[in-house]
Amino acid sequence: MILLNASGCLDALTAPDCARSLDAFVTKTVTPEPRAGNPPVRIAETAVGMLNSIGLQNPGLERFLGTVLPELGRLGVPIWVSVGGSSAGEYAGLCRRLDERDEVAVVELNLSCPNVEGAPEAAAAIVAACRSATSKPLYAKLSAAVPDIAETARAVEDAGADGLSLVNTVRGLALDSETLRPILDRGAGGLSGPALKPIALAAVWSCARVTELPIVGMGGVARGCDALDLLAAGARGVALGTVLFADPDAPGRIRGELEGELTRRGFRSAEEVLRLAHTPRTKPRSEVKSFSQSSCTVGEKVVVDARAQGV
Ligand SMILES: Cc1cc2nc3c(=O)[nH]c(=O)nc-3n(C[C@H](O)[C@H](O)[C@H](O)COP(=O)(O)O)c2cc1C
Repeated sequence: MILLNASGCLDALTAPDCARSLDAFVTKTVTPEPRAGNPPVRIAETAVGMLNSIGLQNPGLERFLGTVLPELGRLGVPIWVSVGGSSAGEYAGLCRRLDERDEVAVVELNLSCPNVEGAPEAAAAIVAACRSATSKPLYAKLSAAVPDIAETARAVEDAGADGLSLVNTVRGLALDSETLRPILDRGAGGLSGPALKPIALAAVWSCARVTELPIVGMGGVARGCDALDLLAAGARGVALGTVLFADPDAPGRIRGELEGELTRRGFRSAEEVLRLAHTPRTKPRSEVKSFSQSSCTVGEKVVVDARAQGV
């Protein structure tokens, strides 16, 4: 299993030790032109995760290539560069420039912008344009907020993607409890953290059924058992996002917890867990287990209440 950060959730130049504790560092999404991002308030906490409306704030391609990338290259960690644009031509242009740079191990295509969501053919067209612009490995980062993410996965595989990054945030809204107005200046934002985990698991599981592409899973990973679940669903890599805002030591901690989980369950390596959720059960579930036993239960209160209702 490889452990990465999720794009936009770690500044490697501010926290180099955290970046070095990962198997690869993924940059914030870079766009052709600089973007100031949205005005504050851009971050809000909710009971089930975090909302953000940063708005792809980044220095733009030229400054990234001239200043940021050389510094990232000195970290000694493989660099995945996330790119975003508003057309297949823009994405391809970014890939062409990154293709020339030895510091770049992988290009992650952030295909989860609103203008490509829900349109697998648009995602595939972008991947196809990028494929002809670079020989670097291309990971397609998809949103789960589409009717059928597996269809998009198949489409980007056919277009030449080398891997999938699953998933980006989903739209959410938080209201100020006093004013009952949106907390974020933009209104709705991207929801990340614990609420995203079942969505991420479903996306990874669905895509792993239809493609052999390597998958980096992300969404609400905060403990070793979350990583274990993603591996079982079919992810070969796991990325940490929101958890890094609270715990910069999360990479080492989660690796340790995962090792502990594997040992406790009698697995010799993470490879043995890969795709386990796709194999038939070996023994019938008990009645209690049908309610509550995920390897990493977060909703115990809800489960107990549901049982009291005889559900
Ligand atoms: C503050 C913030 C900024 C983000 N910026 C980006 C980004 O620039 N590009 C991108 O592809 N995803 C971005 N994401 C999404 C994350 O990479 C990740 O897909 C998502 O947060 C789910 O993982 P998590 O629940 O572990 O945070 C951002 C997420 C957060 C919370």
